[in-house]
Amino acid sequence: MMPQDANNLGHVFGGVMLAMMDKAAAVAAFRHARRACVTASIDRVDFREPIHVGDLVVMKASVNFAGRTSMEVGVRVEAEDMISGLRRHTNSAYLTFVSVDRNGRPMEVAELVPETAEQKRRYAAAQERRRRRLEERNEEEAVQASAAADEAAEAGRSRSRAGAAESDCNDC
Ligand SMILES: CC(C)(COP(=O)(O)OP(=O)(O)OC[C@H]1O[C@@H](n2cnc3c(N)ncnc32)[C@H](O)[C@@H]1OP(=O)(O)O)[C@@H](O)C(=O)NCCC(=O)NCCS
Repeated sequence: MMPQDANNLGHVFGGVMLAMMDKAAAVAAFRHARRACVTASIDRVDFREPIHVGDLVVMKASVNFAGRTSMEVGVRVEAEDMISGLRRHTNSAYLTFVSVDRNGRPMEVAELVPETAEQKRRYAAAQERRRRRLEERNEEEAVQASAAADEAAEAGRSRSRAGAAESDCNDC
């Protein structure tokens, strides 16, 4: 990592790490889909340890799960001290990518068939995270729809109050 990537303490910015993680994960998704992919979401990211200027950052990305058009990619970030060779696992994250055509429309991706015990473990864990993500998204959408309905109802009531006030005025 270079000085322009870091703050004045020599700690690499979280945003710089996120951009690198996004790119590493996008390459894994692209290689599975063999088509352009866009980032649909990034799950919660915790930065457990600082990465310093001069560290060599190694990112390992793998497609854990493929749905119809989306893929979950896991990225593991390690920082290597170039002098001692010591490597620290600094953080990991899960990103969801969607394979898209030239117009940005979601396109089907190849099925992912886990083979090794490790791949099967990751696949099952990714499936469970996807279930939770969809559940959260549905809940958020329901809350937003209910807030929009409340707002519309309130706007309707204000209009009727204004209409009533106007007719009162006409009466005088
Ligand atoms: C991602 C995007 C293509 C999804 O389009 P959409 O019309 O909502 O598509 P759909 O509802 O049909 O969902 C398509 C797939 O994406 C998944 N998906 C959509 N939004 C998601 C989200 N926020 N998080 C995780 N998965 C998501 C769906 O679960 C579905 O998966 P599946 O086909 O494997 O079952 C669209 O929201 C988009 O273009 N977003 C902007 C992407 C972007 O600009 N990224 C940053 C720069 S690359």
